[in-house]
Amino acid sequence: MKKFRTSRTFPAIFALSACEGPQSAFDAAGAEAARVLTLFWVMLIGAVAIWAVVVAIGYYATKTRPGQHSEKAGLRLIIWGGCVFPTVVLAMLLFWGLRMMPDLRPPGDGPTIAVSGERFWWRVAYGVEGEPGVVRNLPIGGVPSANEIWIPLGKRTEILLGSPDVIHSFWVPPLAGKMDAIPGRVNRLILEPTEVGVFNGACAEFCGTAHAQMGFRVVVVPETEFTEYVRAQAQPAAVPESEGLDLFIRNGCAACHAIRGTPPDGVVGPDLTHLASRRTIGAGIVPTTVENIADFVASPDHFKPGIEMPAFGMLPKDEIAQIAAWLGSLE
Ligand code: CUA
Repeated sequence: MKKFRTSRTFPAIFALSACEGPQSAFDAAGAEAARVLTLFWVMLIGAVAIWAVVVAIGYYATKTRPGQHSEKAGLRLIIWGGCVFPTVVLAMLLFWGLRMMPDLRPPGDGPTIAVSGERFWWRVAYGVEGEPGVVRNLPIGGVPSANEIWIPLGKRTEILLGSPDVIHSFWVPPLAGKMDAIPGRVNRLILEPTEVGVFNGACAEFCGTAHAQMGFRVVVVPETEFTEYVRAQAQPAAVPESEGLDLFIRNGCAACHAIRGTPPDGVVGPDLTHLASRRTIGAGIVPTTVENIADFVASPDHFKPGIEMPAFGMLPKDEIAQIAAWLGSLE
């Protein structure tokens, strides 16, 4: 894997961040996204048809001579074309839209997952029965993770959204519409995927310098695989003792990051217990490789301008390499 410490960093990051998974509302793979897509096409085709008729009437009007048509004919056009037709069309659209609204936010019948938008990453907690708790302002505890959300196929997963800092917006275009993550309140979004796959999500509300680098992945799998995944994520770290862990603690990483099963229990930054099981690091920025972890630790600002994590580039290279190798082993 290529190093990311050069001035070519940003184009490389954009190229990489675009290469996995669909991120288009036109590739609907969820119930809500499909409804929104239908609404979009009906509105677009209807608007184009009406526009064509209006232009045709306008063109015809330029070809008529004064007195060619009676005043009555003009009045008929205004009443039927200008009043009745728009009233009927708009009423039908309103009725259809209102009918659709309850379907857009149905009750969940799957797991509940808390997602907290934080500058500039996503805190994730899978709800687990018998394990209540609080994730920031969200009334749910359970199994912590970050920047990658697994959900079961065909179930209506309830996403509880909040934020401790500024307003973010949670958006997975192929699955559902946007929903804001607002400090001080809990918003609710239902994801009902109809296809398995990996989908790209993004923060859709400007929240600071690294807003554009605040992505995430949604992984849709069959329900049994989902249950297995959450069970695995609930386990403590795979390699609880190593030189890398000692260096992690000695250099202060534990002040912000937790690795369950080891002494580090910081809550400011992402939980790193199963870091290597995630597809990306830095909230969807680059693939999870030991080289990328080392580069990120040395210079996080190169990946995400404005990130709160300090740079550790002053550490000896072999110490960073050992920390990265250990983090890269935490599957
Ligand atoms: Cu978070 Cu934009």
